[in-house]
Amino acid sequence: MRPRLAVLTRIRRAALCCGHTRRLSSCAGSGLVVGSSREVVQRLGSKVEVRTAFISEEEEGALLRELEPGLKKKRYEFDHWDDAIHGYRETERLSWGAACEEVLNRVRSAAFPEGSPLLGPVHILDLDKTGYIKPHIDSVKFCGSTIAGLSLLSDSIMRLVKEGAADEWLDLLLPRHSLYILRDEARYNFTHEILKDEESVFNGKKVPRLRRISVICRNLPS
Ligand code: OGA
Ligand code: MN
Repeated sequence: MRPRLAVLTRIRRAALCCGHTRRLSSCAGSGLVVGSSREVVQRLGSKVEVRTAFISEEEEGALLRELEPGLKKKRYEFDHWDDAIHGYRETERLSWGAACEEVLNRVRSAAFPEGSPLLGPVHILDLDKTGYIKPHIDSVKFCGSTIAGLSLLSDSIMRLVKEGAADEWLDLLLPRHSLYILRDEARYNFTHEILKDEESVFNGKKVPRLRRISVICRNLPS
């Protein structure tokens, strides 16, 4: 049996999701968000943030130096059809060196209200270049209203689709080095997924999906 991380395996609830029609509308200011209608882009756009160049090349290097040795000891998981994720390895980390701790404190102050109780360990998800994350909603039992993630090594597209209304959707372009934040409705009422390389097209433009590592902070349910 493969080792399973107690908390991580409880984070994701798979969601049934049908096809999504391509009706691109105007972008919300940044050019990093497109959606099924202007209304969805505006309403949900306020519950979603993508901050480009949130970390520097050097900070990405510091994170990778801390994370790679542990990740390299694990094998990518491909063949568990019931998992929300395909082609991944993951870990969690409680204590960090000074440079990484500084980056994580910046993430925390950007994403969470001061004093908001956070899930202790930071979650690290390493997607192989053929890996992807299927539509799911993070467990409401174990995670609170806000999810914040750094993207290392690759650009990617995160798709949000309204539960029970697949014609309401939003695509976020997550550039390498960016931070994304999902809050409230975006986190509770929409599934999120990371597209596989073959499907990784944003607003008509191919976005190559390479190996990608995300560093994810979550708060606790209130
Ligand atoms: C998850 C997830 C997104 C990411 O692990 O539940 O949705 O950015 N990850 O890797
Ligand atoms: Mn998730």
